[in-house]
Amino acid sequence: MWSQTCFFVLSAVLAYAGDDVLYKNCSLVELCNQNRELERQDRFKVNPEGAVFANGLASFRMQNVEETEDFFLNVTALEGNVFRLQVEERESVRYHIQHVLDGDPTPINFDDVQLSLQAADIIVGNNRVTVNYSPLSVEFYENEVLQFVVEGDRLTLENEDLRHPFTFGVTFPQASHLYGLHEHSDHLALRTTEPNGADPYRVRTIDYINYELYSTMAMYGAIPALYGHGSNSTSGLFLHNAAEIWVEITNEAVGGPGAYFMVDSGAFDLFVLLGPSITDVVRQYTSLTGVAHLPPIWSLGYHQCRWGYANQQDVQTVIAAMDINDFPIDVIWLDIQHTQDMKFFTWNTQNFSDPFAMLQNLSSTNRYLVVLSDCHFKMEEGYFVYDESLANDYFIKNLDGTVYVDEGWPGPSSWMDYLNPDARDYYSSLYLYENWNGTTPTLGGVWNDMNEASVFNNDTEKTFPYDLVHYGGVSNRDIHNMYNLLQVMATHKGLEDRDNGTRRPFILTRAHFAGTQRYAAFWTGDNKAEFGYIPISYSMCLNANLLGFVFCGADVGGFFGEPTEELLQRFVQSGAWLPFFREHSNIGSERREPYLFPEEVQNTLREAMKTRYAHLPVWYTLFYEHVRNGDPVIRPLFYHYPSDPDVFEIDDQLLLGSDILVKAVGEAGVESVQVYFPGGEELLWFSAQLDGTFYPGTGLTDVPVTIDRIPVFYRRGSIIVTKQTSRPSTTDMKDDYYTLFAFLKNDSTATGTVYLDDNLSFEYRDSMRYNYVSLVSYGNIIVYSSIDDSDSQGFDLKIEEVITVIPETSYDGSLTGRCLKTSYKYTADGIPLNQIKLKGKETASIKLY
Ligand code: NOJ
Repeated sequence: MWSQTCFFVLSAVLAYAGDDVLYKNCSLVELCNQNRELERQDRFKVNPEGAVFANGLASFRMQNVEETEDFFLNVTALEGNVFRLQVEERESVRYHIQHVLDGDPTPINFDDVQLSLQAADIIVGNNRVTVNYSPLSVEFYENEVLQFVVEGDRLTLENEDLRHPFTFGVTFPQASHLYGLHEHSDHLALRTTEPNGADPYRVRTIDYINYELYSTMAMYGAIPALYGHGSNSTSGLFLHNAAEIWVEITNEAVGGPGAYFMVDSGAFDLFVLLGPSITDVVRQYTSLTGVAHLPPIWSLGYHQCRWGYANQQDVQTVIAAMDINDFPIDVIWLDIQHTQDMKFFTWNTQNFSDPFAMLQNLSSTNRYLVVLSDCHFKMEEGYFVYDESLANDYFIKNLDGTVYVDEGWPGPSSWMDYLNPDARDYYSSLYLYENWNGTTPTLGGVWNDMNEASVFNNDTEKTFPYDLVHYGGVSNRDIHNMYNLLQVMATHKGLEDRDNGTRRPFILTRAHFAGTQRYAAFWTGDNKAEFGYIPISYSMCLNANLLGFVFCGADVGGFFGEPTEELLQRFVQSGAWLPFFREHSNIGSERREPYLFPEEVQNTLREAMKTRYAHLPVWYTLFYEHVRNGDPVIRPLFYHYPSDPDVFEIDDQLLLGSDILVKAVGEAGVESVQVYFPGGEELLWFSAQLDGTFYPGTGLTDVPVTIDRIPVFYRRGSIIVTKQTSRPSTTDMKDDYYTLFAFLKNDSTATGTVYLDDNLSFEYRDSMRYNYVSLVSYGNIIVYSSIDDSDSQGFDLKIEEVITVIPETSYDGSLTGRCLKTSYKYTADGIPLNQIKLKGKETASIKLY
């Protein structure tokens, strides 16, 4: 047994180490090296004759300058300051992706079209789009301010047998910084790339093993959206295309920062988001590609994972030890080892001989299980998924029509072709209780890993070769980046179907594309147990949040390597403030469950985890606000302080909503860190420790830190809604009363929101069964009201205590740097607060004393 385990560990680590992988830089990829230094030249012009303007669509005839080839250039106006620009050959062979947009965007009519000999001006509300015929360019104005330009002189469209590359350049005249193009392990503000410097940002889903910090190399996620932000406005683009893309960034260009896109194949289908604020741009992007649904509340708790929970006893032991040592936890995870010989949808008969009993046991402690399920399947006769997929033609093919086979966890494997709707249905059906033996609702979620897809082949950069063929003859080139989306769509449907739509599915995906956020959470993959991977997790998750993908986290502790005690504490403390909070480690590493450490380390970890649980009402409310409005859950400082240029490059601090400011501690042995407090002198940030200290919003300030906690602050003027009773899991907190902290402004007011529902079902969506409450505090009076006409019955806001906080003033009226806390547990009638249930609908108030 021992040697068998050792062999397994060794081979798994070796298979995974990936030392000899050659990840290509620009010079080795034809698309990039042939186009990178493209000469600026006018290759196209618009021929205004025959232009058609109808129903929100302007369609122009475009020609190459020699007038030998015909193209079209279409401009469509959409709701809410969004335009769509499509450029294509008249006789097009380009592939148009589906499933990415959250419904078909509806065109809106133009208000006016003004034609001259040189250009067409299309007017819609406050916006104007100017199509300049020759030299060709398309300019987008918001309130007569030029926000965004598609340059004609770097436009190329080529057609080869198997690929249809195109290039184009854009500029953001009002911007000083560019953001987006997720996923890279890089700073939030994109840097200038250039032939003698950094490679262009590569946008292709790749299993970039051992990923380095601050790199423009492609990673697991690929979201081709880019925003330009300046002190006065923001605009953005989303390229609706799932092929490989390289993007050269030039921050210092005359006329504003620019980006040059080199796209391997597919359609030139560009959405232009005219803001004009960062909030607007994010909402415009999420209105196109969708938002997440509300997560089941347990998925916002603490997740304990390890590539190494090898039998069902282990699962039980870990949960019991967490309980005994008073660590809150909601979910335990199983990696590949739960399967029989790496065959997904099977259980290892020896080590997980009674999954039903394991799940029952977990359920009795109010915990959930999430298990891994990959998209490649062992080629073994008699393995039902393989046999049935083969028989039904559900696998991806080589160019010659044979089934594509390469190495995955089980050895020779084939990959399911999720572009095929029947394959998707089949895959969904595998998740049904009757098809996946031993499963129950306690197996609350699924982990779709390795779906870039990862292939153990160093010659193909550990992913699919470009020319694989999907359903309908579609080349992998055209859909590579959205393979993951197709898989999680099917997983999501499977989980919804198995519970007849009564439970919100939870899925964790590693690869992701635009639209994947509608179905799954993601994490930043195989990071390392090094300090630098803490701040990068903030930068990466902030970027994703701006691009609509809010449910993001990082492997707490670091996947590869052994964290020191200090590093683990910092990882847990910072991870507790990311939307997805999971400790995970590699099979070769030491165990690191929180109860394995000395008492003083345990205390720090426990406090960080309990702080997370105390703030669950904040997390849940923000997720609801994301669902409702498309807003990010965590936000970079510039999101709320868009005209303060000093915050544009800050990416190791985050705002949870608008009211909680967190600074990651990404260095060993520090006694103080520099925190940037935004908002100006008038705005105060109170230490969340509530030890009385506060800081004005005057910029960078040295803040002392100890190992006990990382710096976290509440914004003056906010009401922070918490639950203070410590419980083992979120389920156990369900009926707990709320504690409100009101940080009163000079005029004694503070505001906040809180959202309540049944925590698990889709009734909030399907029957409006929820209570979304607005809270306003006027000194010791709290006014509350439901924000809309939902059915709030059963979701009363039950308050335990209200604590108001004001800065202390000295006799001359100046602030002292300390604050005064007043705790209210009673109303004016002397009734204890926890005996009052604040119902929704009507506006009402309580007076506290
Ligand atoms: C790769 C994932 O990134 C990692 O988290 C997981 O533990 C291994 N695959 C094994 O399944």
